[in-house]
Amino acid sequence: MNDFEIAPSLLAADFGYLMRDIKAVEGKTNYLHLDVMDGHFVDNLSIGVPVVESIRRYTNLFFDVHLMLTNPEKFVKPFVDAGANMLTFHIECTEDPDGLIALIRSYGLKVGISIHPHTPIEKVIPFVDKVDLILVMTVVPGFGGSTYLDGSDERISAVRNAIDAAGAKTFLSVDGGINKKTIKEAYDSGARYFVAGSAVFNDDDPGKAVEDLKACITM
Ligand code: DX5
Ligand code: ZN
Repeated sequence: MNDFEIAPSLLAADFGYLMRDIKAVEGKTNYLHLDVMDGHFVDNLSIGVPVVESIRRYTNLFFDVHLMLTNPEKFVKPFVDAGANMLTFHIECTEDPDGLIALIRSYGLKVGISIHPHTPIEKVIPFVDKVDLILVMTVVPGFGGSTYLDGSDERISAVRNAIDAAGAKTFLSVDGGINKKTIKEAYDSGARYFVAGSAVFNDDDPGKAVEDLKACITM
């Protein structure tokens, strides 16, 4: 039994064959990471409510929805209705993190908080025992295929220490530039939930790519 999870990021899939690519990772993981962008908080657009709603009909994977958008409060209900299982908002995008946590929980969903690499890590520390997951971005959010940033390991360790000091079971997630090399580095720094886009879906066999990533930690 592993003490970590891999969440393939659908952003790197072939959008003309979404269900084919999702089926390729079913059985290798229970999680699917879905990136929502607004062209405002980040310089890109991606998956929205209709896509989440559509794919929900064809898979039982846990939908980990990463909200890279301003006004996250406005989008909680639409993504609840679309079938999300967890909503992760950015700490930079709300004035009232506690209220937003309560709102998401009121619908019975799990809650995550993500932090941009340019935001001091201290911002997220007070919330480590209030949510289910802390997502330390290891690239500037907005695009797949970026390189794992220097300094990420220290930021991961800082959150790891805070989670452990609080005696919390909170998942520590990383997202961006996770590949066969960086996954071990992030694991050793304390991450336990790995979002991986290109490393999974740019492979001819995405299911095997998930297994290969796991092996980089367990071997
Ligand atoms: C980027 C997204 C990521 C993205 C990661 O802003 O939040 O989830 O899909 O892609 P890779 O794994 O290719 O860096
Ligand atoms: Zn993401």
